[in-house]
Amino acid sequence: MKEILQELERRREVARLGGGQVRIDAQHARGKLTARERIDIFLDEGSFEEFDMFVEHRSTDFGMDKSKIAGDGVVTGWGTVNGRTVFIFAKDFTVFGGSLSEAHAEKITKVQDMALKNRAPIIGIYDAGGARIQEGVAALGGYAEVFQRNVLASGVIPQISVIMGPCAGGDVYSPAMTDFIFMVRDTSYMFVTGPDVVKTVTNETVTSEQLGGASVHTTKSSIADAAYDNDVDTLLQVRRLIDFLPQSNTAGVPEIECYQSVTEPDNSLDTLIPANANKPYDIKELILKVADEADFFEIQESFAKNIVCGFGRIEGATVGFVANQPMVLAGVLDSDASRKAARFVRFCDCFNIPIVTFVDVPGFLPGTAQEYGGLIKHGAKLLFAYAEATVPKLTVITRKAFGGAYDVMASKHLRGDLNYAWPTAQIAVMGAKGAVEIIFRKDIADPEKIAAHTKMYEDRFLSPFVAAERGYIDEVIMPRSTRRRLAQGLRMLRNKDLTNPWKKHDNIPL
Ligand code: HXC
Repeated sequence: MKEILQELERRREVARLGGGQVRIDAQHARGKLTARERIDIFLDEGSFEEFDMFVEHRSTDFGMDKSKIAGDGVVTGWGTVNGRTVFIFAKDFTVFGGSLSEAHAEKITKVQDMALKNRAPIIGIYDAGGARIQEGVAALGGYAEVFQRNVLASGVIPQISVIMGPCAGGDVYSPAMTDFIFMVRDTSYMFVTGPDVVKTVTNETVTSEQLGGASVHTTKSSIADAAYDNDVDTLLQVRRLIDFLPQSNTAGVPEIECYQSVTEPDNSLDTLIPANANKPYDIKELILKVADEADFFEIQESFAKNIVCGFGRIEGATVGFVANQPMVLAGVLDSDASRKAARFVRFCDCFNIPIVTFVDVPGFLPGTAQEYGGLIKHGAKLLFAYAEATVPKLTVITRKAFGGAYDVMASKHLRGDLNYAWPTAQIAVMGAKGAVEIIFRKDIADPEKIAAHTKMYEDRFLSPFVAAERGYIDEVIMPRSTRRRLAQGLRMLRNKDLTNPWKKHDNIPL
């Protein structure tokens, strides 16, 4: 009996070594951890329960029948993050470069199925060379099985991808269909086709980093939601994100103890808005002052900085913050900002996370670059996302809410539940200068008349009161009371019950 038990231990030890010590050392020499080390750091200590440790590939071509490694290049299973169940798979680069075989794909689809059935988040860690070249179509089929499950799980359980090495070819599309992608600076890259193919097809010479490194995907393509300096930091940040997320679309947001008063006024907010309406201020200051303990997990911090999106908590429960950022392009809405915020709003709505929107927006960005780039369709994405969302929607207009952008940013007309304005709010079709130049074009040569018209327009329209008179604003509130107002509103909206008409699915302007 003892020998039988020892045999299990021996087999486990061999499996845990993956592709062997030499390849593990090479992995470490590149500043990367192994798949198992990553899982150990990511999950609560001792919580990992592994599946399929002894699975091997079944291919016989190219001498593969003589080269089998237990686990076949991916470590899978489940564990907990701060006590909450998550499913996980981590590609093991030391085994056939983490490449995907039919058997490898079956291991992944098994945890995808388990995660969906048990309504818990799934995390995929990528460090791999794409399809197992020796397997051909069996590997391609395996990828498609994974993709199909990504789609069925989308909007039901949170899916998160962490790129910690190469992620090329077939490996890129599963992450692309998950909710969030995180990367490690300098050691990870993602592309559909690598530098060699790029050189052959387009004659461009690029490095892997230039083609698909973390800086490309966090600042240019917006494929990645954030990047961190090393494996450990990245894994700890993803744990932090998981703490904000519900287990599934029916589980409700997680709630933790809140130690910060919601009734205490924050007088510093009364002077956040500069006296000069054209001067910028940092909207993140407002977010940090409203969120419990200033704990804010920002999504796509380095992309379309004119809008800020991320998770925080109010009275211990998760909320999604969306805010125009006056510090960047005066907080204007352009195509990138619209797409970024639309995706975030839709994530929140899928998972029943209330949305708090702070508005200070001069409008949509004019120009040929924007129009040729499809601003109409991209702007419509944000409009569509807010309009279809049925979660509690709380909006605070701090300063400008001009033109179509007023409508888009979770206005009353898009079923905003609570729409507040600070006394500094200016809700109008456009700013005073543009408005006067159009309505009083005949007086344009007379500066005195123009000044008088401008004053009249500012007095009448550049305030929250015209909107408040119509009930488009529920209340004009003191800036200092914003946290209290939002906390009370969220409490009142806890049992909000709103359902859109039945449909197979909508047709958001993609
Ligand atoms: C089989 C692979 C492999 C693959 C790497 N390896 N990729 N084995 N299939 N796709 C093996 C290598 O043979 C090597 O084995 C080990 O993994 C480490 O690879 P190295 O090349 O030594 O490592 P490195 O120099 O770091 O380069 C990593 C890499 C490179 C950039 C990922 O290996 C690479 O370019 N691989 C091929 C990428 C690719 O073209 N994949 C197919 C994409 S097509 P030993 O035994 O020497 O350690 C695709 C289509 C699917 O995915 C589409 C579905 C929609």
